[in-house]
Amino acid sequence: MKVLITGGCGFLGSNLAASYLKEGAQVVVVDALFRKGSAANLAWLESQAAKGRFHFIQADLADAEAVLAVFRRHAPFDYICHVGGQAGLTESPFIPFPQG
Ligand SMILES: NC(=O)c1ccc[n+]([C@@H]2O[C@H](COP(=O)([O-])OP(=O)(O)OC[C@H]3O[C@@H](n4cnc5c(N)ncnc54)[C@H](O)[C@@H]3O)[C@@H](O)[C@H]2O)c1
Repeated sequence: MKVLITGGCGFLGSNLAASYLKEGAQVVVVDALFRKGSAANLAWLESQAAKGRFHFIQADLADAEAVLAVFRRHAPFDYICHVGGQAGLTESPFIPFPQG
């Protein structure tokens, strides 16, 4: 079984990835490491994975070429879990949030 997880270094994604790795799946994670703590989650996942069963690609999902490159290199997938994204608007570096 081969699974692609976007945001695989976040809260939901890293737990999903660890669970699939435990089941013996091959796991491909795409994450920009935007979130504080996601690099630590990546290190944790790498420590869980058997050699050759975990692939990490640091890329922004808004970068269509980078996402296409992931599919060219790693597809087909049995499952795609899309949990990459901003969990809270207030933390977005792109949206000016009204103060006060
Ligand atoms: N945690 C929950 O209970 C919950 C509930 C409902 C919905 N959601 C949604 O599910 C998604 C994941 O939630 P989470 O709690 O795991 O958040 P999280 O912040 O822990 O993880 C999100 C991951 O996505 C990555 N990311 C963000 N923008 C990216 C981009 N443009 N390209 C590549 N990677 C990117 C971050 O680096 C991070 O590792 C969010 O969209 C959130 O709104 C979460």
